[in-house]
Amino acid sequence: TGNPPGKAHMGTSFSEFNTGEFADSPQTDLGVLLGQVATACKVISAAVARGPLSDTLGYTGTDNIQGENQQKLDLIANELMIRWTEWGGQVAAMASEEMADIYRIPTQYRQGRYLLVFDPLDGSSNLDVNVSVGSIFSILERPQTEGEVEDADFLQPGVMQVAAGYALYGPATMLVVTTGHGVNGFTLDEETGEFILTHPGLTISPDTREFAINASNARMWEAPVIRYIDECLAGVTGPRGEAFNMRWVASMVAEIHRILIRGGVFLYPKDNRDPTRPGKLRLMYEANPMSFIVEQAGGAASTGREPILQVQPQALHQRVAVILGSRNEVARLVQYHLETP
Ligand code: AHG
Ligand code: MN
Ligand code: MN
Ligand code: MN
Repeated sequence: TGNPPGKAHMGTSFSEFNTGEFADSPQTDLGVLLGQVATACKVISAAVARGPLSDTLGYTGTDNIQGENQQKLDLIANELMIRWTEWGGQVAAMASEEMADIYRIPTQYRQGRYLLVFDPLDGSSNLDVNVSVGSIFSILERPQTEGEVEDADFLQPGVMQVAAGYALYGPATMLVVTTGHGVNGFTLDEETGEFILTHPGLTISPDTREFAINASNARMWEAPVIRYIDECLAGVTGPRGEAFNMRWVASMVAEIHRILIRGGVFLYPKDNRDPTRPGKLRLMYEANPMSFIVEQAGGAASTGREPILQVQPQALHQRVAVILGSRNEVARLVQYHLETP
């Protein structure tokens, strides 16, 4: 969330920050919902940390709608996100990577004006090797409040998001949030159970010398991406005249967090493995929330051919090409897509 610059200070709790931002505003409900999502993330953080001790690592044997084998913790995190947010009266329906269909709030609870979209556990292939994972969320407003929520109500371009964020379950658990007034990062104080503002006003440096891409897909990349990565790898004697560094955690949350802290560019581009597949990552609950955060931090996010936040979704689980991070590098990649189609 984003208090006006100067108002928020290090050490403020997420609860206080949220209350301050939304006091007496018609968006009070949004602050309440963000508080509940934050609580859900604390509970998921605890469940993830206990994984090796509680027989919750490993696979369930079921596939999700993307054809990925679901891990036990994918489903546990999905349940926890629902359970800790559905009762509060702020949400009308939810959509998640791990649910083929939308989840309408049971009638015993008040229906709210928001739609909650989430990736309950991002980077779950890293669980069994104890590498950082996260949760990603996006909040949309329900377009109309009559009748039942339908899939179509969710199909809003990313520019319509009213809030987005992620929790990173790393050496420390962190919550990074935007409501469209900048990006703020909070660190979970395990002793008090509060998220504390430690990273107010996060910004992404416009230039970088670090990229992130799964290079095992190189043989399938399109020409503009091959050109860009070749130039990065060419080092000081190449066209960039600089040596680039590379990172690939295989947890999008961890990659985006690194980019918010020290800059960088992240790519999961379209490749030619399957002409019907525009990329790997999912538009609604991975690309859109991360693009909102990155743009709010002064970075850029593109498919290579159009801004991610302007893509009109056609389906809940649709995939999209993702190029985001330091804005001058993203601009260069967009230029290469124009020059080398
Ligand atoms: P999820 O675990 O939610 O399915 O997401 C995994 C995503 C993302 O976190 C990461 O950037 C990417 O998949 C890693 O893909 P590769 O395994 O192809 O490297
Ligand atoms: Mn998955
Ligand atoms: Mn994910
Ligand atoms: Mn996931």
